[in-house]
Amino acid sequence: LGKKIHYFEEVTSTNNTAKEIAASEEEGTLVIAEVQKGGRGRMGREWVSPHGGIWMSVILKPGIPLRHASRLTLIAGLAVANVIRNMGLDASIKWPNDVRINGKKVCGILTEAKAEVDRVDYVVLGIGINVNMDLKDIPESFRAGSTTLKVELGRHIKRVSFLQDLLFELEQQYINFKIRPFSHILNEWLALSDTIGREVKVTTPSRIIEGKAVGITPDGALVIKKADDTKEEIIAGRCIYARP
Ligand code: BTN
Repeated sequence: LGKKIHYFEEVTSTNNTAKEIAASEEEGTLVIAEVQKGGRGRMGREWVSPHGGIWMSVILKPGIPLRHASRLTLIAGLAVANVIRNMGLDASIKWPNDVRINGKKVCGILTEAKAEVDRVDYVVLGIGINVNMDLKDIPESFRAGSTTLKVELGRHIKRVSFLQDLLFELEQQYINFKIRPFSHILNEWLALSDTIGREVKVTTPSRIIEGKAVGITPDGALVIKKADDTKEEIIAGRCIYARP
């Protein structure tokens, strides 16, 4: 991954740029920018992307059924969490895609796929990491739940070597994804996730589900056990912990 890199000082969103070029680019091509003016988060939210972060999108062509595309989100979260843990920080994953340190978000992932019938043409794996920003660089409304690697480590981070480590780790995960049963990756993900076992409140565009997070399905859906003891699988939503 990252054999070919499109580097920009400023874009609207690296995911948008990646989607525009995906059809004609080879798998592994990377789009990266210093600043995003219209960075996008999941569920239509804004993603604040000033100088100092890593805002990137990787084009993948895994040839998988569309319903498996969310597995790549789990892989990306795992890769980011592993690289951060190798720096000595206690990173964990909050379902589906937040990498957090001490309960604060340091990375978000936005996976977008284009599919023909049920086969994926390409997947754009958008990864945003708060690296060298100070908290004052993050608008006040986002600040409370966020952190940066610089804040957590108390020093400046070399973004190029971080990126090299991340691309290496992501490539390892991607190779495993292709050759191993997905259950291996899922177990690794579960070991780093702090969601399972918690009381959660998940908001989807249509409703709110409350209960205890008891597991994750092979497609990355969260399994919630509700107060009436029935279980429900949620493929996408915003997850809040009832207790921090
Ligand atoms: C989220 O947690 O809601 C997902 C955030 C994803 C942000 C990244 S930054 C690079 C790529 N380009 C975007 O516009 N979004 C993703």
